[in-house]
Amino acid sequence: MCGIFAYLNYLEPKSRREILELLIKGLQRLEYRGYDSSGVAFDQNESNIEIIRCKGKVQALADTIWNRDDIDLDHQYQIHVGIAHTRWATHGAPSDLNSHPQRSDDNNEFVVVHNGILTNYKDIKKFLEKKNYTFESETDTEVIVKLIKHLHETHPKMKFRELVEQVSQQLEGAFAIVLKSKHFPGECVATRRGSPLLVGIKTKTNLVSDHIPIIYSNKDTHRSNLMKTNSLVGAKLARSNSTTEFVPYDEGKVVEYLFASDASAIIEHTNRVIFLEDYDVASIEDGRLTIHRIKRNLDGGDSLTREIMTLKMEIQQIMKGNYSSFMQKEIFEQPESVINTMRGRINFDNETIVLGGIKEFIPEIKRCRRLLLIGCGTSYHSIIATRQILEELTELPVMIELASDFLDRNTPIFRDDVCFFVSQSGETADTLMALRYCKQRSALIVGITNTVGSSICRESHCGVHINAGPEIGVASTKAYTSQVISLVMFALVMSEDRISMRPRRSEIIQGLKKLPEQIKQVLNLDQQVLEMSKELYQQKSLLLMGRGWNYSTVLEGALKIKELTYMHSEGILAGELKHGPLALIDDRMPVLTVVTRDSVYPKCMNALQQVMARGAHPILIAEEDDLETQKYSKRVLLIPHTVDCLQGILSVIPMQLLSYHIAVLKKCDVDCPRNLAKSVTVE
Ligand code: AGP
Repeated sequence: MCGIFAYLNYLEPKSRREILELLIKGLQRLEYRGYDSSGVAFDQNESNIEIIRCKGKVQALADTIWNRDDIDLDHQYQIHVGIAHTRWATHGAPSDLNSHPQRSDDNNEFVVVHNGILTNYKDIKKFLEKKNYTFESETDTEVIVKLIKHLHETHPKMKFRELVEQVSQQLEGAFAIVLKSKHFPGECVATRRGSPLLVGIKTKTNLVSDHIPIIYSNKDTHRSNLMKTNSLVGAKLARSNSTTEFVPYDEGKVVEYLFASDASAIIEHTNRVIFLEDYDVASIEDGRLTIHRIKRNLDGGDSLTREIMTLKMEIQQIMKGNYSSFMQKEIFEQPESVINTMRGRINFDNETIVLGGIKEFIPEIKRCRRLLLIGCGTSYHSIIATRQILEELTELPVMIELASDFLDRNTPIFRDDVCFFVSQSGETADTLMALRYCKQRSALIVGITNTVGSSICRESHCGVHINAGPEIGVASTKAYTSQVISLVMFALVMSEDRISMRPRRSEIIQGLKKLPEQIKQVLNLDQQVLEMSKELYQQKSLLLMGRGWNYSTVLEGALKIKELTYMHSEGILAGELKHGPLALIDDRMPVLTVVTRDSVYPKCMNALQQVMARGAHPILIAEEDDLETQKYSKRVLLIPHTVDCLQGILSVIPMQLLSYHIAVLKKCDVDCPRNLAKSVTVE
């Protein structure tokens, strides 16, 4: 949750206006991560930092800034550090005071932006209150800068980076933080533990190396306890040897640095980035970037360098283009995103599939005791959608789990289990915690994500990138269809040497081949879905019914409707209707039923008859050549027929469109639904 963005220009002259524009633009790119309030901190003059924060979306912050007539926007800086934040409230309601940057004191000596949650902030607060520090916000974040100020006052010689290193060792929970200070002009320090953070590097000359060495700051990894001893355990801190500092570009040359929670905010400036890892402390002093580590890996496999990676992402990929929202764009991108998921992996001529990221591990996976698939929200629905085909083609027991529930139960995990973690963002805290839980128990960890360099990607033993392209709208759409395809491809890989399964595999592979064209055909229903939305948008509730391959479809459809339109919606397994939900049905209750020609067709028809007998007039999603079913309703959305395990990909799209149109008609914010965030990095 929350988006962090920071910009440092070194010897690259910029006006204050340019810097503020850049910070605001960065926040707008990250707004999907949280959008209840935002703020910036920049230099006011040689010795003071100005903070502007306000409740509401980033546009409200921009309006506040541009309406201020006391800021000299033309002031030029050779060197400057600006930090910015867009918030999704966890501690304290959205308000100006609870927005970030949070500050150490009235003079803004130290300022911080934070993504994550500190679990021990109350203890730190108590400690600081005893030292006469007073707090102005309800946030957990404020303790960070106050503790740094305290440390700075007791150890005035300490470098900015060392202060942050020491304080970050006192923090528990999840965080990515970026700080600036009036005592250290032109410097910026950032660190992370559990929340994502990357550094972008922009230089006018070519980088001289693709790697930056890591400096291990603390020889022993014991956590110093600043609060217990009431003074810094500075003795334990091994001062870094400045000769090991490294500049991957010619010294004294112009350089700009960007820090961000994800690459979408950086890509328009540079494609050279470093993904920071937990316990990395990145600091910039005199235009030089150094990365220190405050903890060694337990297995001794410490990296000696961090790679400066080249992002392949194009700026157009994250722009809305002619669409009114990212979600609409992402729905309409599906014919292409599913191709990208399959590209270079499926050979449709000889019907073979290679998943490079897990190829080496397939023999081990084949020997496993069971497959566990774990995720949250839409990602979990993609797991439900593919469970049956995984059971059928792998002939292994398949357990599916909601990450939060899985953790609550302390589920037994064994070393011969294979655990899949499905996540669009690759940063969902519940999923990531479940991953670490399984990894500790020596299970094989397979990540299925859409975000290269994400925590789940990095912490998995192997994995599949779904390659759907950046998904910005909070409601997940194209990631769902690509997750389903990725898991189906995995099932196909697992069955490649089973002669008895050849006809079935061939049917599915040929089904996958036709899918992009069929998705285009389904998207042509857009106008028809808009007309249906006009009938539905003032209703209080909408029930969605399906079973078998389409149970996940109705769960996913209901989640989309809830999150985007704030209307109550429930996805009901048609087989459960008679066990309770049937009581909801009368002639006024809106019902949408998915009926496709698969093995559960007769049972779906029974359910349809049951609701119609209670006066309901269901909307149907049915197959275009199923003339029989079409007779049951005047409102039918016709989709092409495909193989059963892929049918849900086609039937979910009208539901994505339905939720989108209802949201627009209800004037809801399609890309940023209330109370939600794209990347849920809190448990
Ligand atoms: C989907 O529309 C939701 N916004 C949400 O359920 C999401 O799928 C869930 O939070 C999991 O996210 P992940 O795929 O990034 O892990």
